Amino acid sequence: MNAHDQLIVALDFPARAEALSFVDRLEGTVRWFKVGLELYIAEGRPMVEELRRRGHEVFLDLKMHDIPNTVAGGVRSASACGAGLLTIHAGGGPAMIAAAMEAAAAIQDRPRILAVTLLTSMDAAQVRAVGIETTPAQQVLRLAEMAVASGVDGLVCSPEEIISIRSSAAQDAQLVVPGIRPATAVADDQSRIATPGDAIRYGADMLVVGRPITRAANPAQAATDILAEMTAASLTAK
Ligand code: C5P
Repeated sequence: MNAHDQLIVALDFPARAEALSFVDRLEGTVRWFKVGLELYIAEGRPMVEELRRRGHEVFLDLKMHDIPNTVAGGVRSASACGAGLLTIHAGGGPAMIAAAMEAAAAIQDRPRILAVTLLTSMDAAQVRAVGIETTPAQQVLRLAEMAVASGVDGLVCSPEEIISIRSSAAQDAQLVVPGIRPATAVADDQSRIATPGDAIRYGADMLVVGRPITRAANPAQAATDILAEMTAASLTAK
């Protein structure tokens, strides 16, 4: 797989003008962009449609979590704007995931549906506080296997979860991985991180990168360096 098809840059901006002027700086370098809650709630479908009009692929990270009927409707609405990837929460359970996949199956050129297992902000104390008695690592695997058995196309996971998922019943899922930091970058608020090269070597299919590119003095150069590292790692992986 070409690194251009594996790198997703997170458009964590509050409004369309800032997002699009940043996209302009990466024109010709980056193909995939992630639109999350901040930008989507501010700008809605026209934001996604504009990225598609410019020829980009869109990861719509809305992390849907509601009753099955409502999530099925959400999947239908989100699919209409042309996103290629869409997130739901595995914690919504097998019935919710099955309803999302059934809704997606009826759509032509449907997005691939990714399940978020456990948010990386959920450490052992947070997990215990919501009544889950296992460790975060065990909970991630349990949700990953359940989501895949319920028909989801892929999973969002942290770099440190890739290897255990790849040796579980969820091993064939498409793995989309945030928490990426080049060796020279600061960690920001990410704790479970890996370099782009290591994440590819562990078995990630796609990487989500935000601040190491959005806050770089030269974003296009930062993206080019990351793409080169991914390409080099692909040649030695698997
Ligand atoms: O700036 P940074 O590279 O940390 O951005 C990572 C992106 O991936 C952000 O949009 C963040 O919301 C998202 N994300 C994450 N960890 C998860 C799921 C999503 O960092 N577990």
